[in-house]
Amino acid sequence: MFETLALVGTGMIGGSIGLACKKSAQVGRIIGYDTNPESLEASRALGICDSIEYKLENAIKEADLVVFSTPVQVIAEEIIRAAKSAKSTALFTDTGSTKAEICKSLKTNFKNTGPIYVPAHPIAGSEKNGPTAANAELFKGKLTILCPMENTPAWALDKVSGFWQSIGSRIEKLSPEEHDGIFAFTSHLPHLIAYALAGLLEPRHIQFTAGGFRDTTRVAGSDPILWTEIFKANKGPLINALRGFQDGLNRMESALENGDFESLKAMLAKAQQFRKTVQ
Ligand SMILES: NC(=O)c1ccc[n+]([C@@H]2O[C@H](COP(=O)([O-])OP(=O)(O)OC[C@H]3O[C@@H](n4cnc5c(N)ncnc54)[C@H](O)[C@@H]3O)[C@@H](O)[C@H]2O)c1
Repeated sequence: MFETLALVGTGMIGGSIGLACKKSAQVGRIIGYDTNPESLEASRALGICDSIEYKLENAIKEADLVVFSTPVQVIAEEIIRAAKSAKSTALFTDTGSTKAEICKSLKTNFKNTGPIYVPAHPIAGSEKNGPTAANAELFKGKLTILCPMENTPAWALDKVSGFWQSIGSRIEKLSPEEHDGIFAFTSHLPHLIAYALAGLLEPRHIQFTAGGFRDTTRVAGSDPILWTEIFKANKGPLINALRGFQDGLNRMESALENGDFESLKAMLAKAQQFRKTVQ
């Protein structure tokens, strides 16, 4: 149980954390902070936070736990800034979709002498953004990946793990690099492909789209600014995943060109088998 929780970033993910905490009654009070006053004020109106602050320092100074749910490119700098005003006993965690770059910059700049940061990524989300898309049930039964750094104390890891579990998450632990390598394939590449496919069609095709197109491109409705930053922060592993995908496409193209439909069918059957195992 944390007495005071501060949410830095009260958009879709931060807002969902606030609503889930209200439901689980595992925090005493919630203070919100967001650089966008509209999102911040909406988060209070929607019952995500008990109170809001327009300055980061004011929002986090009494917090026992601070959750950073801003775009990935500002998480490390906000953590460093917040550490200067936070209680020395405070715990920090985040929701960023990439981990290696954030952990690398905090390893050299953030010494864990005061507040302790436990990197996290909840594997739950939506293509919508902003606090109006927040959902109290978002994390229920979903994984949250914790990426402890070399100097993360076991007790801090346990407490932050307990927090994520209190809002319904299951926990897995990975190193920041393992995390980014895996999510390049399972999340970042699918988003990139969805954008590529949705961007390929012309307006005259719209009336002829159906479930297949909608299912395959749903995540292309996600915020382009947020996702450009995720792709940028995980550029190396994403290029690696993209090359693997291009190899697969090339094999399918050759099979088609050469009329080798047995090979094509074998590739589809293998993919179908894998897809059936995904819940
Ligand atoms: N969208 C998803 O499906 C998903 C899933 C898991 C994790 N994430 C991660 O969660 C984080 C938040 O994503 P989201 O989907 O909630 O986006 P969002 O756009 O809904 O919310 C982000 C919020 O951060 C605010 N913000 C921007 N810079 C800030 C700063 N310097 N200080 C304080 N607030 C700031 C924005 O105004 C916005 O309200 C991202 O790091 C993203 O990678 C997203």
